[in-house]
Amino acid sequence: MCGIIGYIGNRQAVPILVDGLKKLEYRGYDSSGVGIIPSSDEGVVVKADIRKTHGKIQNLQDLIRTKPLPQSSLGVSHTRWATHGAPNRVNAHPHADCSGRILVVHNGIIENYEQLTQALCKKGHKIISETDTEIISHLIEDAYRGNLLAAVVKAIRQLKGAFALGIISSDHPDMLIAARVGSPLIIGLGKGENFIASDVPAILDYTKRIIYLKDRQLAVLKEDGVRVYNFEGKSIRVKADKVSFKVDAVQKQGFAHFMLKEIHEQPEVLQRMIKTRLKGNKVILDGLNLNERQLKSVNKVFAVACGTAYHAGLVGKYVIEKLTGIPVSVDAASEFRYRNPIVDKKTLIIAISQSGETADTLAAVREAKTKGAKVVSICNVVGSSLVRESDGVLYTHAGPEIGVASTKAYIAQIAMLCLLALKMSSLKKFVKEKTRKKILKDLKHIPTLYRDILRNKADIARIAKKNSHFGCFLFLGRNINFPSALEGALKLKEISYIPAEGYAAGEMKHGPIALIDEYRAVVCIAPRSSVYEKMISNMQEIRARKGKIIAIATQGDEAIKTHANHVIYVPPTDELLTPLLVALPLQLIAYYIAVQLGCDVDQPRNLAKSVTVE
Ligand code: M6R
Repeated sequence: MCGIIGYIGNRQAVPILVDGLKKLEYRGYDSSGVGIIPSSDEGVVVKADIRKTHGKIQNLQDLIRTKPLPQSSLGVSHTRWATHGAPNRVNAHPHADCSGRILVVHNGIIENYEQLTQALCKKGHKIISETDTEIISHLIEDAYRGNLLAAVVKAIRQLKGAFALGIISSDHPDMLIAARVGSPLIIGLGKGENFIASDVPAILDYTKRIIYLKDRQLAVLKEDGVRVYNFEGKSIRVKADKVSFKVDAVQKQGFAHFMLKEIHEQPEVLQRMIKTRLKGNKVILDGLNLNERQLKSVNKVFAVACGTAYHAGLVGKYVIEKLTGIPVSVDAASEFRYRNPIVDKKTLIIAISQSGETADTLAAVREAKTKGAKVVSICNVVGSSLVRESDGVLYTHAGPEIGVASTKAYIAQIAMLCLLALKMSSLKKFVKEKTRKKILKDLKHIPTLYRDILRNKADIARIAKKNSHFGCFLFLGRNINFPSALEGALKLKEISYIPAEGYAAGEMKHGPIALIDEYRAVVCIAPRSSVYEKMISNMQEIRARKGKIIAIATQGDEAIKTHANHVIYVPPTDELLTPLLVALPLQLIAYYIAVQLGCDVDQPRNLAKSVTVE
């Protein structure tokens, strides 16, 4: 939700800032801007300069081309996902104070901005935007007595809410200040140059040495060094980490879209997980941070997550309950803390998140922790806020996911939940060892099956394109593939904007069947399973009402052709693992329909990759 990058060093800042924004564009893309302090000869007073505009970063690039910025080696930039105020030029960041000397970029929400605005206006400050950000530059101006750091400390101590900030001033052309509460911010350490950014990909071309700024920490970056402080202004020692992912992990590598690339990475993602997490039939859950006694004593599980991660949690419910007999509740994280959940010391909270920065998931975790529950996160981003607030973490290590539509993170989350369930079941001895071994054997085989499905992706593309004219889609599944139906519908609607609903197939007759006619497409997830016959009955009900059916079925199931207009086959596997397999055609259906309709697959309208506001 909004991306920030800042630079101080010995190179030209503008290309680095704009290039970095491109890599953060997945975080928001409704407007963007760059602010710099021009380079000058010693003693010469310079003015800060800004270029900003509505729309995608391409618009900003065009603007800078027609109206170039002066030479500079100090600047901040921002790509926005609007919360307060329309996505236009005035509301785009950076925001300046009255004098135009102090520039601020911000990710997060300032909750008390209205109060602060009134107080600042009374003092004569002129606030020109509708944002909650602009007041920060005025607060700093108000507190400034020649020491920028002291003024920033004084200003941010008045803020309530979440923020990651980048601040520069023309009075201090040797300094870039960063601060964070709640919203992610990293510092990149270079040679003769330093960076701030919302996420690693923005600066990966320049450095792999990263400081993950913690909540209520500030940093002063100079060309030749970085000092970190707490909000009392006291200097603190911090350790830099070396990030392991490669530059090409954040490039499209010949694929038309990041989403397609990430779909193709899924076999390797699972292969990697299986290699590190399975030793023979033993599940290794390094990072879980719960001993066998603690794990055995768990008598209730809550999964909390949002969006696609929530759907992974729903799949996890079926798997954990089936293999361990422990009841599992799955909550949309945004709802969890409002319903006074019954949580105690024997409750295990599984927080699932690709980014580890989703504000709703973090809030749910905080609520559970106040009630004494143990929190284990299933997360993709190393060192994220969620990981830091959890008692244990099971990293999915799926690599950076850039496409806004989550794909490889989803299948990695499901696979991790399966591994956790298998581990817990070995302790609880709830199912026969033979059953566990069979599931493990099938799980190890999934990467190969993925490759088989991907080899036939041209067939899926053909079916998707043929059905892309439908103005409404239903996705139906039963039992463990009910969450698959929800996920299939979410994927389609978020990237193609076609209204799509996921339903438990048995629920269809309680209302949604009213929608069915020859103008509706229905994706029926019907692999061979304990509910196969019931799915067939539902398909017949749809056919009887002239609905058009795309079935996802198990290879060898010729009979299903008589009930469907199109059939996409997946190889056979254990029923509990079928959500892993059907995810692939569902992702590809959404992808090819969106491409056919000319939609912006990687950056769908109104969305952002990580949602760091509530
Ligand atoms: O980073 P997270 O996994 O916590 O994000 C949760 C959702 O915002 C995310 O899954 C969202 O629904 C995706 N755009 C779905 O493709």
